[in-house]
Amino acid sequence: MTDATVSQTTLPLPLVRRGKVREVYAVDEHALLLVASDRVSAFDVVLPNSVPGKGAVLTQMSAFWFRELSSVVPNHFLSADVEEILERVPSLAEYRSEIAGRTMLCRRTAPLPVECVVRGYLSGSAWAEYAQSGTLAGAPLPAGLVESEQLDPPIFSPATKAEVGHDENITFQRMCEIVGAETGARLRDASLALYAEGRDRAGERAIIIADTKFEFGRTEDGTLLLIDELLTPDSSRFWPADRYEPGRGQPSFDKQPLRDYLAGLKRDGRWDGNTPVPLPADVVEAMSRRYQDVFRRITGSAFPESA
Ligand SMILES: Nc1ncnc2c1ncn2[C@@H]1O[C@H](COP(=O)(O)OP(=O)(O)O)[C@@H](O)[C@H]1O
Ligand SMILES: [Mg+2]
Repeated sequence: MTDATVSQTTLPLPLVRRGKVREVYAVDEHALLLVASDRVSAFDVVLPNSVPGKGAVLTQMSAFWFRELSSVVPNHFLSADVEEILERVPSLAEYRSEIAGRTMLCRRTAPLPVECVVRGYLSGSAWAEYAQSGTLAGAPLPAGLVESEQLDPPIFSPATKAEVGHDENITFQRMCEIVGAETGARLRDASLALYAEGRDRAGERAIIIADTKFEFGRTEDGTLLLIDELLTPDSSRFWPADRYEPGRGQPSFDKQPLRDYLAGLKRDGRWDGNTPVPLPADVVEAMSRRYQDVFRRITGSAFPESA
């Protein structure tokens, strides 16, 4: 892996969307390119530094899972191999080094306007709501749960896709009003099956997937596909299993050095929680190592040298 980071791409293709971390380009009416930058965000703030290897880790880890879990539910993945991508889109030849490793060719869909979250452990916004009212998206959960406690069976906990601000947790019933009852049931069943399979495989490698988010879309002929990224540190909470202890927040596998640094600044009154602050080199390096480490642990293979 080179140390060159890419904080943003500008490719000679129609830009469909510039997200917090990825750029989406149209190849044609049937295919898209998802390009993961090395940008990093924490507490919903996108920081000025880029993390070497992060974009490639997100893309190659998604590619790994799309292949592994393709029998559970059909997905949008076509290729994450730069040679294959250049063959399909020759106009990108001169952007080779910029896109290598971090780019995924996928089938274009109309995304459904819901986030399909599965929670296997009580954390994040779900823990915050439960601690206050004993509920999740307004529906009661068993009494007496503690922070980070395992939820058995895992809970399907959809959310709206907010254009601005935070996503809002909604009930299954509300989701069915948005996408229709039949689609709602399919999304729920597919999400729970994907989570169970992913959790078991990550568990064999001493990583807990505490929760994760899936997105689905429809192709022109109406086929439902799993889209976006899959079981990455950006779409999931990964915890090191050997340090798991219910009753408190868990260290995060990838962003902990960043969170610790920002929390320290905040404690000292040197950060307002909103301004993108520059990060010291050792924090950036620690994160870069964490992303590559989690990639190796999950996939069992070394980080691709060409990425
Ligand atoms: N196969 C697909 N078809 C259409 N849109 C997709 C597909 N896969 C992913 N997307 C969309 O691409 C975007 C990825 O960029 P991202 O940086 O995650 O943006 P966001 O800030 O919206 O999360 C998301 O809006 C996602 O819904
Ligand atoms: Mg996203």
